[in-house]
Amino acid sequence: MRSYHLDSGAGLSGLTIRDHPDPVPGAGQVVVAVRAASLSFRELMIARGDYVLPVKPDVVPISDGAGDIVSVGPGVDSRRIGERVAATLFPSWQDGPFGIEHLPQRGGSLDGMLTERAVVDQEALVPAPAHLSYEEAATLPCAAVTAWNAVTGADGLRPGQTVVTQGSGGVSLFALQFAKTLGARVIATTSGPGKAARLRDLGADEVIDYRAVPDWPARVRELTGGRGADRVIDVAGLLEQSLKAVAMAGHVACVGFVSGTALPVDTRTLFASGATVRAVAVGSRAQFLAMNRAIEVNGLRPVIDRAFPFEQAHDAYRHYASGKAFGKVVITI
Ligand SMILES: NC(=O)c1ccc[n+]([C@@H]2O[C@H](COP(=O)([O-])OP(=O)(O)OC[C@H]3O[C@@H](n4cnc5c(N)ncnc54)[C@H](OP(=O)(O)O)[C@@H]3O)[C@@H](O)[C@H]2O)c1
Repeated sequence: MRSYHLDSGAGLSGLTIRDHPDPVPGAGQVVVAVRAASLSFRELMIARGDYVLPVKPDVVPISDGAGDIVSVGPGVDSRRIGERVAATLFPSWQDGPFGIEHLPQRGGSLDGMLTERAVVDQEALVPAPAHLSYEEAATLPCAAVTAWNAVTGADGLRPGQTVVTQGSGGVSLFALQFAKTLGARVIATTSGPGKAARLRDLGADEVIDYRAVPDWPARVRELTGGRGADRVIDVAGLLEQSLKAVAMAGHVACVGFVSGTALPVDTRTLFASGATVRAVAVGSRAQFLAMNRAIEVNGLRPVIDRAFPFEQAHDAYRHYASGKAFGKVVITI
């Protein structure tokens, strides 16, 4: 079986493929024949060398993947063979709050899913939603679970409330889909009219071009009668602006910093906002299961931009890094 390997900071030229003997599952483990893996922003950071969590040398990259259980180790029910599954990003985080004991993460400090066969603890899997393809199920572990946590966590978004999503990346598209499913109003920001139209097609009620309207928080206030949005899903790392867009006693889910701009936050803005700011770290397995129930009941389908064959993983990374994708970039295995 073949796996890709990468060292943190080695760049795309450091992404190499090697042959290995078929893995044997240990006690409590299964072997998953991985059918698809999907790229998230963290994979670009690992290739660049600026990911925030530890990355082991020569890691099998990519946290997100889905496939079939093909063999089981001691202590695992052999009837699990044949199950369609997706892997969780933090294998030990089953439920409850996040803690440093849950920091080991797939495709970072642990081997990931850009491989034909992955050994996974049986508790670190969830059933893939039945109506989704392997490619679609592979998009869920990082971006979708993070969006689900950001939207539904900590006294989550309620019907009729307003949420701001930023840009049209993986997390934000899932957040938009979940928020609409929950009956909320979505104000999405993006760059350019083409992506704005696609966000509207996905259900965004209002779209703001953050390049044409740099003071997008002021526009959010206009669109909400001066109140601000009940929740802002901050993937851009623009906390100062998010605090200006959020309603008094609202909620800012602090997810990422894709804008690349580490702007200072004025504590007076934080105080004046009256908002809660919560850092989101993907989500637990329990949140993944809850999300999958919502995906199944509502027939939600992840947005996929393009799938590349396993042998063209470098092209998949390059396409994703170009920023032209609308939806997830997937590698079919
Ligand atoms: N905390 C966690 O657990 C967690 C989990 C997943 C991801 N993240 C983080 O969340 C961020 C997004 O991840 P992702 O996988 O969704 O990334 P992604 O798919 O690569 O998102 C890229 C998109 O970000 C948007 N963007 C860039 N600059 C922006 C700006 N100034 N304002 C608004 N949008 C901007 C662009 O949208 P347009 O093209 O529409 O302009 C771009 O298409 C990353 O920083 C990632 O590290 C964190």
